[in-house]
Amino acid sequence: MPRVYMDANATTPLLPEVMEAMRPYWMEHFGNASSIHQHGQQGRTAVDRARETMARFFNCHDAEVVFNSGGTEGDNTAIFGLLHPGDHFITTSIEHSAILEAAKRLARHGVETTFVAPQPSGLIDPVDILRAIRPETRLISVMLANNETGVLQPVEEISRIANETGIFFHIDAVQGAGKIEFDVRRFGCHLLSISAHKMHGPKGIGAMFVRRGTPIEPLLVGGSHERRQRAGTENVPGIVGLAKAAELAMHSLDDGTIYRLAQFRDRLEAAILQLPGTGVNGVGEDGKPGGSACHSGATEPSHVLMAMGLDKNRARASLRFSLLKTVTESDIEHVLRVVPEAVEHLRAMSPVVAGTLA
Ligand SMILES: Cc1ncc(COP(=O)(O)O)c(C=O)c1O
Repeated sequence: MPRVYMDANATTPLLPEVMEAMRPYWMEHFGNASSIHQHGQQGRTAVDRARETMARFFNCHDAEVVFNSGGTEGDNTAIFGLLHPGDHFITTSIEHSAILEAAKRLARHGVETTFVAPQPSGLIDPVDILRAIRPETRLISVMLANNETGVLQPVEEISRIANETGIFFHIDAVQGAGKIEFDVRRFGCHLLSISAHKMHGPKGIGAMFVRRGTPIEPLLVGGSHERRQRAGTENVPGIVGLAKAAELAMHSLDDGTIYRLAQFRDRLEAAILQLPGTGVNGVGEDGKPGGSACHSGATEPSHVLMAMGLDKNRARASLRFSLLKTVTESDIEHVLRVVPEAVEHLRAMSPVVAGTLA
């Protein structure tokens, strides 16, 4: 039976162009980008070029791009790098665990966090963020797109609130990056994290936008890499791969790829909604559904869906479909052939459907 991958929010494969761009940097141009000899300078040039690409991707200065190991590190850096004992932190209850667990750890070090709950639509109301602000609030962190529902959050409005009240604002943009128009100046944030492997780049590499003058302390120390903001020998192949993925993502916003993807998503969704007893978890700002949801691999219902007020059974019965940029018509058709059968099969076995479990 053919297999179709519909879990792009978990990770994506490299696009061939990304693989090709990275290839010379494993063996041929293996130099340490910090070495002053020719081998090193080849690596340095590659990192500099990648930084220019990422600055275009973010719409910021080259000096505001910091390469790191991905979304988890970016999220942790924002929190551990800015918050001190006595500070107050505002985030949401639907963030990725890289934010939630970091906030929990800081609770043991005198940083209190307010977790703002979403509306039943999955949207965070900026007014709820405003209400949570205290004199000692130092940082607000809200995600751009939720990894489970796909709902896009009103980050520009939240940023306005943060800027007007003199609070730093971090966006976890891991899921939106490469899929929607990106502009850190328009977003108005001080910090923003992305990860290459969610946008057809390699795993274990990412980048952070750090607005000039943001007093963030590095998470890793030990070298002068990344303008002393992130110590560690640069992952040159990864950085080159990230930049290539970002370049391709910028094209895909212009060349119709994203529009085609949205059409496939809408088609998949409309067809699945024909099945009796189905629904969509989460509605975007435009009133349109943002996607469907699940918490893969877990038997516990998703914290995101529970925070949106879904009952446990519906949360447990939810499934996330997320599409690769390379998705084809026949992939969609295949899924639409197998899903109804699978749903019927699972419902036949389900104690909830049978009414033996509340
Ligand atoms: C919203 C969000 N933030 C952060 C992360 C963590 O990113 P990484 O896998 O690069 O550490 C993920 C990955 O699932 C994510 O979906």
